[in-house]
Amino acid sequence: MKVSVIGAGNVGAMTAMRLVEKDLCDVELIDIAAGLAKGKSEDIMDAASVIGYDTKISGSEDFSAMKGSFIIINTAGFARKPGMTREELLSKNTAIVKQVGENIKKYAPEAIVINVANPLDAMTYVIYKTSSINSKKVIGMAGLLDSSRMDLAIARVLNKPVKKIDSTVLGTHGETMVPVPSETKVAGKKLSDILSDNQIKEITEKTKNRGAEIVSYLKTGSAFFGPSACAAKMAEIILKDKKETITCSCLLSGEYGIKDIYLGVLAVLGKNGIEKIIELKLSKQELSGLTSAAAAVKELINQCTI
Ligand code: LAC
Repeated sequence: MKVSVIGAGNVGAMTAMRLVEKDLCDVELIDIAAGLAKGKSEDIMDAASVIGYDTKISGSEDFSAMKGSFIIINTAGFARKPGMTREELLSKNTAIVKQVGENIKKYAPEAIVINVANPLDAMTYVIYKTSSINSKKVIGMAGLLDSSRMDLAIARVLNKPVKKIDSTVLGTHGETMVPVPSETKVAGKKLSDILSDNQIKEITEKTKNRGAEIVSYLKTGSAFFGPSACAAKMAEIILKDKKETITCSCLLSGEYGIKDIYLGVLAVLGKNGIEKIIELKLSKQELSGLTSAAAAVKELINQCTI
């Protein structure tokens, strides 16, 4: 099976590398910058004998190279600079993402699309609209990343292995992220039975600000090890039809009283893309967070000229 990764920057190249290193699929890395995708993919191939994979990666400047892909992962788009919100990337990235969506429509209209470009939820909507692909096959990456970041924040406070922690983060991958402590467990125990309200508040703030924190260390560019791991993991779940439940950005059609908006929710992923959206019983406060998140995404979508 073939997966195309659009954008050969840090997130794209690292996602491509993770996919071939796991021997999951052949990869086409596509970037309009002359030689960039070819150079990085050839460099990744140079490691095949040492790491020991048989999967192949090739690089192209041409969108038509995505033909025949089962999955397309879009990472094309600008990253924010220190002090910027993801939302501030809206107008610059809409133009790029529109072009990606139109090319997907032309060359791979049957593919499942995972979007990573920011502002995540609005850009996933732009790809859905411009590619004309069924919404069940257009998914935004990020809930998995935000949940993984919350797992780490909790693990560090408790000095426990990160594997024992199972966090849930819904809402946008942005200013209106909704960490859900009531659905977060540590070795099967409720978070609120282990930590104080203040500690939980600190953890949720840390989770919300984690992307900006990484940007502030890096100074140029944003996180890419975490994001690429999550994009590759989503592709793996779909390719292997694992029917795993994760948080990702899905088009809602009435869940939580929200319609026609992409938002991070729990969903089962499999070979058909989004196999099922799971609606949790949220507290009043969490539900109101989700409603505010939906309003924020709607406002961004309204500003996009699709
Ligand atoms: C982050 C970017 C990728 O959260 O949105 O690091």
